Amino acid sequence: MSAPIELEPSALPQHVAIIMDGNGRWAKQQGRPRVWGHKKGADSVRRSVRFCRELGIPALTLFAFSSENWQRPADEVSSLMQLFKLMLKSEVKNLHKNQVRLRVIGDLSAFDEPLIAQIKAAEQLTAQNEALTLNIAANYGGRWDIAQAARQVALQVSQGELVPEHIDEQLLGRYMQLSDLPELDLLIRTGGDVRISNFLLWQAAYAELWFTETLWPDFDQQVFAEAIAAFTSRERRFGCTSEQVFALASSQLKG
Ligand code: IPE
Ligand code: IPE
Ligand code: MG
Repeated sequence: MSAPIELEPSALPQHVAIIMDGNGRWAKQQGRPRVWGHKKGADSVRRSVRFCRELGIPALTLFAFSSENWQRPADEVSSLMQLFKLMLKSEVKNLHKNQVRLRVIGDLSAFDEPLIAQIKAAEQLTAQNEALTLNIAANYGGRWDIAQAARQVALQVSQGELVPEHIDEQLLGRYMQLSDLPELDLLIRTGGDVRISNFLLWQAAYAELWFTETLWPDFDQQVFAEAIAAFTSRERRFGCTSEQVFALASSQLKG
């Protein structure tokens, strides 16, 4: 066992997102069917939520099912839907008890009625919780997100409530998913691939990216802490120079 990693509370990311990848390969390594990997991945979800809750990170967004994942074999898709329902059923009470607000982002219209009802009930039950917002991205795609925001803005224009000249980044950004939460600070991908796979394209504009070979079912507090430690050691310049960042930090320290 490696030594626990010390994390500086004031430097923690306020919003972390994770592309939870590698379940299928993990299962294959164990000589089990892919769905076994998805089931084991559920334990990593619980661990990650607990970790954010303990550290006091206010927002966690997990990529559970992409708009492209419908292309997988039908039995895998249906197992994933079953698992989603089971997880909602078994976890929501506990999330609520722990002051977690649950939200599902993505195009929910593709899901069956019972699942939609389950999602709505879970969101309603936990809506007032303030310790952690847990967003589950399901049938989510970054391009879908931008398109749905554009559609809402276009509707306003067509109703004469808005003129195109007033559409800017701030305005469109308000219609994107998660716009009421802190900016995405850290985007983690497990499973060794180095790509975004149509996740939070808009929201990740200035997120720090962190990739690990660790497969999702093996993702634990130690690996999560490594990601956060890497985040805290990065210099975020947001287009400025290093000297400017340093000067700003010094003036803030002086108060
Ligand atoms: C991620 O694991 C979970 C989902 C996409 C639902 P994968 O199922 O993609 O696992 P690999 O990448 O095939 O190992
Ligand atoms: C991304 O993983 C989606 C989720 C983790 C839910 P994929 O395994 O679907 O990504 P690609 O297809 O390898 O890019
Ligand atoms: Mg994958």
